[in-house]
Amino acid sequence: MDILSVLENKKRGKALSAEEIGFFVRGAADHSLPDYQLAALLMAIRLNGMDARETADLTMAMAYSGDMLIPDVGGVPVDKHSTGGVGDTTTLVLAPLVAACGGKVLKMSGRGLGHTGGTLDKLESIPGMRIALSEKEFQDIVRTVGCAVVSQSAQLAPADKTLYSLRDVTATVDSIPLIVSSILSKKFAAGAKAIVLDVKTGSGALMPTLEASIELAQAMVAIGDHAGRRIVAVVSGMEEPLGSHVGNALEVKEAIDILAGRAQGPLKKVSLFLGAQMLLASGVADTEEEALDRLNRALDSGAGLQKLKEMIAAQGGDSRVCDDVNLLPKAPVLYPVRAREGGFLAHVNGTALGLAAQRMGAGRVRKEDAIDPAVGFVMEKRIGDEVKPGDVLCTLHAASAESAKETEERVLGALAFTKEPAPKARLLYALITPQGVRNLHE
Ligand code: URA
Ligand code: CA
Repeated sequence: MDILSVLENKKRGKALSAEEIGFFVRGAADHSLPDYQLAALLMAIRLNGMDARETADLTMAMAYSGDMLIPDVGGVPVDKHSTGGVGDTTTLVLAPLVAACGGKVLKMSGRGLGHTGGTLDKLESIPGMRIALSEKEFQDIVRTVGCAVVSQSAQLAPADKTLYSLRDVTATVDSIPLIVSSILSKKFAAGAKAIVLDVKTGSGALMPTLEASIELAQAMVAIGDHAGRRIVAVVSGMEEPLGSHVGNALEVKEAIDILAGRAQGPLKKVSLFLGAQMLLASGVADTEEEALDRLNRALDSGAGLQKLKEMIAAQGGDSRVCDDVNLLPKAPVLYPVRAREGGFLAHVNGTALGLAAQRMGAGRVRKEDAIDPAVGFVMEKRIGDEVKPGDVLCTLHAASAESAKETEERVLGALAFTKEPAPKARLLYALITPQGVRNLHE
């Protein structure tokens, strides 16, 4: 087989055979094919698409391009994956709650890049926390505690590493077959048997419209089902940060506050909904009502917070942060951003807010940049809220007065007000299962 004939076929819009797909995926994993030919093929796939059979073959070839874990965790390993949000700490809320209900959460996470936060960066704001664990170590933790959140080993789906870094620089990220195969190959290789996907829709999401987000969710559910996984996808809104806290230690604090019963709101609501889907997909609960009921009881009894403590301790972190959030890193400058005029908060540019946090030091501009775990901000208003001149819109946690001043302008630039009352942002749009689409009205 030669790469030129594969390129020629995809350029002409033909479906590639399993052999052709296996050939270029191996070439990506072992770097035997040069980047320029892979990049050309990615663009041909982006422009001419792939059918369901090709997407399934691509996903499996990528999954098998490295190690395939067969986790021994004393139950059905369940994973949740979000396609990238701002102020989105659902993992830290739902993993301990699902574990407290008897689920086995094996979560492999990534770093934040660009405007979205990464769960690993958030966890590392906890003193001592280790996220690079051996396969044996994290399986032991999942078996005994019920949840572990770790970094993905480089031995899993190495073809994705090559292809994803090329997509990033060739404008080929927004391709349904390429997104589906990238995300699911990693989940399959990590041994997840039950998978809950949180597909974001709205400004800054992978797919620009609700229709395209639902199409992406349906494609992922179809491939997961085909591969024998229990899989569902939730399409959720990203009109504004999900939680009120944006920044690494701040988001850990918010997750602890929710688990301790001190905080309510959309982050809690979406976490419980996703957690219920995880209990259902892993067969731990039989109905959505039962699943939600058990999760709420784990929250009210403190069992969820106890699980987070156990997970942090098992991963070498200082679990006392769960009892005293003041032990988390703190920024030196607190600065209130006030409304300059009155009205209703009608629109929030979530991407711009994520980038504002990144510029404060909460995220990276380059992969090798260090981050400041303490900085970020707490939004005091949500879309739909009425605002009077001088009201605090947001509290900045900055490294310096200069950074606070700069961020104030960025935050104000990301918010738009109207004189007329504005509706609240929608949180949950649809639940996609192998059986079909259910509209959610939240
Ligand atoms: N996240 C991934 O891991 N892959 C994609 O293609 C998009 C988001
Ligand atoms: Ca996230």
